[in-house]
Amino acid sequence: MRGKDIVSAFDFERSDLFRLFELAEELRKEIDSKGTLDYARGKVMITAFFEPSTRTKISFQFAMTRLGGLVIDFIEEVSSLRKGETEEDTMRILDGYGPDVIIIRHSKPFFPHNVKDFVKAPIISGGDGTNEHPTQALLDVYTIWREFGRVDGLTVGIMGDLKYGRTIPSLSYMLTRFNDITIYYIAPKQLQVREEITKKIEGKLNYYLVENVEEVMEKLDVLYVTRLQKERFEDPQEYERLKGSYVITRNLLEKHRKIPIIMHPLPRVWEITTDVDALPQAKYFEQAQNGMYVRAALLKEVLGV
Ligand code: CP
Repeated sequence: MRGKDIVSAFDFERSDLFRLFELAEELRKEIDSKGTLDYARGKVMITAFFEPSTRTKISFQFAMTRLGGLVIDFIEEVSSLRKGETEEDTMRILDGYGPDVIIIRHSKPFFPHNVKDFVKAPIISGGDGTNEHPTQALLDVYTIWREFGRVDGLTVGIMGDLKYGRTIPSLSYMLTRFNDITIYYIAPKQLQVREEITKKIEGKLNYYLVENVEEVMEKLDVLYVTRLQKERFEDPQEYERLKGSYVITRNLLEKHRKIPIIMHPLPRVWEITTDVDALPQAKYFEQAQNGMYVRAALLKEVLGV
């Protein structure tokens, strides 16, 4: 993957995923025992985030630091964007200093796709609007693989705001790289997964649209919860009405004979109550930590070090 741009989950072939997961395991052992390594000595990564982030930005920065490389953080709020410079010119300038890789997050769908056409450095998307978040899918599927020792044959429930969440398309696309996968999309009709997404997975995995998590809970190996995006609702009462039916509580889970592993890209707002955190099936904090190791594996491959 040396020098490759990563702007979609479809940029990963099945063989890339297994190789990255194995490499992440090796790097985990090395980082946990030695701290900072030497692989990326002399290499420079720029993080250019035009939208807030905690996990994606910091885990990429940690990953590069642990590989022994250098990190330059572009901070939009104190940049010359505030003087009217365009985002495209900004990216040209950052690229001109000669970074070895640039991580971009932007609220505009396809911004990283456009940038990759005029910059020299490899671009890795850290999320673009409602379109995709490919490295989130990478850590999601890595977490599933670590948990089950496989991905093939699993049944995954994806619940919440499936219309606007960008982790949903990327996770769905990445799961098409595996065999015999079933996805249950669990959401109210008005927040169900977009047709443009299901068109891309058609024939590559089995999927069903359902409204109630309880009807499928015992079929699931994984329940992937996402937040309802309050800012997208025109009617606040509608948001309040739907909210109650999309909360995962310990009581709700313990009513069932089988509890799937619970994942969430985070941030969590109210959709998983904190009493779930102590269950052994709650994997969301571990999932976020896994992001550092698998992003280190991806950086090592893209940098070719
Ligand atoms: N999951 C995720 O993308 O989190 P951040 O927005 O904090 O990066």
